[in-house]
Order: sequence, then structure tokens, then C-alpha cells
Amino acid sequence: MNKIAIIGGGNIGTSLAEGLIKSGKYSVDDIIISKRNPNTLPLLLKKGFNIISDNKSAIQQSEIVMLAVLPQQFDAVISEIKGSLTASHVLVSVVSGVTIAAIESVVSNTPILRAMPNTAIAIQESMTCIASNEKSKPHENRVSKIFDCVGLSMIIHEELMTSATALCACGVAFFLRAIRAASQGGTQIGFHADEALKMAAQTAKGAAALLVEHGKHPEREIDKVTSPEGCTIAGLNEMEHKGFSSAMIRGILTSAGKAGKLY
Ligand SMILES: NC(=O)c1ccc[n+]([C@@H]2O[C@H](COP(=O)([O-])OP(=O)(O)OC[C@H]3O[C@@H](n4cnc5c(N)ncnc54)[C@H](OP(=O)(O)O)[C@@H]3O)[C@@H](O)[C@H]2O)c1
Repeated sequence: MNKIAIIGGGNIGTSLAEGLIKSGKYSVDDIIISKRNPNTLPLLLKKGFNIISDNKSAIQQSEIVMLAVLPQQFDAVISEIKGSLTASHVLVSVVSGVTIAAIESVVSNTPILRAMPNTAIAIQESMTCIASNEKSKPHENRVSKIFDCVGLSMIIHEELMTSATALCACGVAFFLRAIRAASQGGTQIGFHADEALKMAAQTAKGAAALLVEHGKHPEREIDKVTSPEGCTIAGLNEMEHKGFSSAMIRGILTSAGKAGKLY
């Protein structure tokens, strides 16, 4: 098992660490988390994770290096760690908006890949897109295997990474907001807020599972719920009159535009 250094123990770095442990394929001894203030993660420390503030030491003890800092922190961190990265490391950046070419301009001897997971990685349900270049392509399989432990992974062209950011990473928030809206509707028609949220979340989970398991187009499943002159089609059409699909599409386009300009 390759030891993994996670440089940046924030939302996504810690979610990745938790997901890898939950997969049962990694133990806390296989992972080192590095962040400026290690004491801010008491729960992870309690679980036995090795959390340090020395990025170079974390890299020296690992084979795979996951870079999970904010785009605005990237320049400082990459300059700090470039001397510690060797040809036998594999660097995987989850930093939005920073291209492999930009990283290679600072780190020339290490194979570099990009990955775009989402926060469901903590419960092994991430959709993670992975991109490489000619030099790092031989490592795609090894990196995909790590992300397959924590959800589904897909190899994509690097040019589509900003689109993947909007659809999959930002996408978690879009679907959560849709669930919140459904629960608000549920409360207005008679359920307590906590009941409505539980019912809306499980219904959303079931709808997504139908698509994942049957592999069919959503409209095929929608046809099964919409009887002629029925209540589902009445509600669905009202949502479309108010711009439901259009709002989601426009939100994704806006996020993709912004994702391309983060660095
Ligand atoms: N959140 C998501 O859903 C998501 C999904 C996909 C990709 N991403 C990308 O992942 C990256 C991280 O996002 P995030 O949401 O996890 O951000 P975050 O919660 O702000 O985490 C950033 C982490 O980087 C650490 N850090 C900052 N400077 C450092 C340094 N010099 N050395 C070591 N660690 C340092 C911070 O440590 P301290 O807390 O100790 O200061 C913090 O733990 C971003 O580029 C984002 O675009 C995020």
C-alpha cells in the first residue's frame, strides 16, 4: 500500500482521509495530513490520524502526495514543497483551476495528475474526475484505484476539469439545495421540518439510485411516476413553468465560468 500525504487538511483533504479509512483499504498509518494548524482537527487526532504542520516531512514519508489547498494558497505551498518532490512521488492536485502545466512549470521531475472529487468522498460516494498528461498517464490506474475506494472515478481530458468542478464538486451543493427546497415544500403541506427533510433526502437518494442502478435516462423513470391528468405531472410542469431546469443549467454554467478563473 502506498503511503499518502494530504497537503491541506481542510474540507476536502479531511473528507478524503476519512473516506479512505472507511473503505477499509487504508489505515490511519497509511495517511499523513499536513496543515498549518494541526490542533484544529481534534476528532481526527482522536481517531489516530497523523496530523502535522511540516509539509516537507509529510512528503518525505509518502509516495502519493495529494495537494488540497485553496487556489490562492497554491503558489506559496508549491514553492515550499517543490524541493521535496522526487521522480518517485506521484503528485495529485485537487486544487480547482490550477493546470498540470502550471504545476509542471514549478515541479518538473514528478508525474502530476489532477483530481476533482466532492465532499461525499467522506462516505465513499464521491464522483471523482481524474486527468493526466503524457508524462503522468502511466499513473492513471494507480490514482483511479485510490479514488475508486471512495466512490466512482472517471478519467477525463484536462480541458474538462472546470466543467467537472461545476457539475460534480459544486454539484453536491446544488442537489442539497434542491433537497432543502423539497423539504420546505413538505413542511408547508403538513410535515414537521425534521420529518420533511428526512423524507426529501431519502426520496432524492432513491431517485439517484434508480438512475445509477438502471442506467436509464431520467425521463424513463419520470414516465413511471406521471399518470395522465395526475398530480406529479401537474407539479412537475408548474416547476418547469417557473424555470426549474433552466435555473439548474444556468447555475452550472455560471459555476463553470467561475471555476475557470479561480487561479
Ligand atoms: N470543498 C470541496 O467540495 C472541494 C471539492 C473539490 C476540490 N476542492 C478543492 O480543494 C481545495 C481545498 O478546498 P477545501 O474546501 O478543502 O479548502 P479548505 O477547507 O480551506 O482547506 C484548505 C486547507 O489547506 C491548508 N493550508 C493552507 N495553507 C497551507 C500550507 N502552507 N501548508 C499546509 N496546509 C495549508 C489549510 O490549513 P489550516 O486550516 O491549518 O490553515 C486548510 O486545512 C481547493 O483548491 C478546492 O478548490 C474542494
